[in-house]
Amino acid sequence: MKIKKLLEITFNIAQKYIDSDISNPIINPLPPELNREHFSLQIDNEGMSEQEFSQALERVVMNTPKTASKKFFNQLFGGRNAPALAAEILTTVTNNSMYTYKIGGVQIAIEKEVIETKLDYVGFKDGDGGFMPGGSLSNMVAMMIARNEKEESLSANGFSGKKLIAYTSDQAHYSIEKNGAILGIGGNNVRKVVSDEKGKMNVLALEEAIKQDLKEGNIPFFVNATAGTTVLGAFDPFIEITKITQKYHLWLHVDAAWGGGVFLSKRYNYLIQGVANAHSVTWNAHKMMGVPLSASAILLKQKGLLYKHFSMKSDYLYQIGEDEWNPGLSSLQCGRRNDAFKVWAAWKYYGKYGYEERTEKQFALAKYATQIIKNSPEFSLILEPEGLNVCFTVEGVSAIELCNNLYEQGLLQVGYGSWQEKSFIRLILVNPDMEFSDIDEFFHLIRTYLHKKL
Ligand SMILES: Cc1ncc(COP(=O)(O)O)c(C=O)c1O
Repeated sequence: MKIKKLLEITFNIAQKYIDSDISNPIINPLPPELNREHFSLQIDNEGMSEQEFSQALERVVMNTPKTASKKFFNQLFGGRNAPALAAEILTTVTNNSMYTYKIGGVQIAIEKEVIETKLDYVGFKDGDGGFMPGGSLSNMVAMMIARNEKEESLSANGFSGKKLIAYTSDQAHYSIEKNGAILGIGGNNVRKVVSDEKGKMNVLALEEAIKQDLKEGNIPFFVNATAGTTVLGAFDPFIEITKITQKYHLWLHVDAAWGGGVFLSKRYNYLIQGVANAHSVTWNAHKMMGVPLSASAILLKQKGLLYKHFSMKSDYLYQIGEDEWNPGLSSLQCGRRNDAFKVWAAWKYYGKYGYEERTEKQFALAKYATQIIKNSPEFSLILEPEGLNVCFTVEGVSAIELCNNLYEQGLLQVGYGSWQEKSFIRLILVNPDMEFSDIDEFFHLIRTYLHKKL
């Protein structure tokens, strides 16, 4: 098949899919086990004609869940960022790998530009960073470097038998515990520090837990603080936590995978005040910055740590250029897709001011939704949102039932969460291309559902 023809087919399908965000915002879900037969997914011995191929692609794409529609409030990402989408398509067309300057060329310079811009926002003056395949792995790299810095012989000789301990709040993303298990720290040695009535880490409880571990002869080494928790959207008290990590000489990592977008706004960056004193930060551009999945960066205050812990020389790969232009030497991976181009494209297009406006629009949407909940007797707010997670209950119906029914009826895609033994709707307002009228429609659909049920 000629590439030009194939691209034409592809763009037609893409356009149809985008148009259907309005006409069919929620696809009809099939029971998972029926997909193979329904969409003829099996790989056959014989290939297919151009026409059959384009029909097969279209059928699958048109039945793929929609994350950019105005009825999607389900995840910590959503919407369609046009400049980033354009660059993402071109990334696939150019198909570079980001290990060497020889193969990545100008794209390596673009990645450096994006990392340096992020470091600047975070306040790491002479820092370092790299792209990882998601926030969970950025968090893992932070924990791995902290572990190896604490136990200097570990990467060469393996574990010495000492019990290393990490701390995070009970509201942190599950990747923190999972990374403890992956890295040989042990999931049980990731202490879940209780959170307070706003879902923020209780700093007194953190210090108590550290003291207890020291008393038992364990080795505390790492504290994860969260900027924007997954369920409640809470921001941990970074300044207070830093006092503790400095007192006990612990690595402080800030998981800003979700809330990192607040760095972009002078109005809301008070939420991450003090983060410049951390050792590392995870910041996902595929969440608040709205670029297509995935684009997660690990940012380090100290230059050279990625190179120190990840460089492995091999003359079959690293053939030209200075090490600093061959980022494979500072990466967890060998072959690595280019996630920076789409972030750069969106930032270049909107500019820093444009992104600031987009962030403030997200907050305006969250505040608008919060106000509707406060003014409606049938809704109850779980807590005053700090970020873009608006958590609330609806009188007379469980959050689980409501979310599942709205989805099955093709009305809304929104999820639920739980905290303090209560389940609630977790409304995520991350798509800055939504309007207040889309929020009105969201609540209108819930009210209509309720009235039909009564
Ligand atoms: C606070 C937080 N950290 C980390 C992650 C993981 O990010 P990713 O899905 O990119 O692995 C999430 C995902 O929602 C998150 O909410």
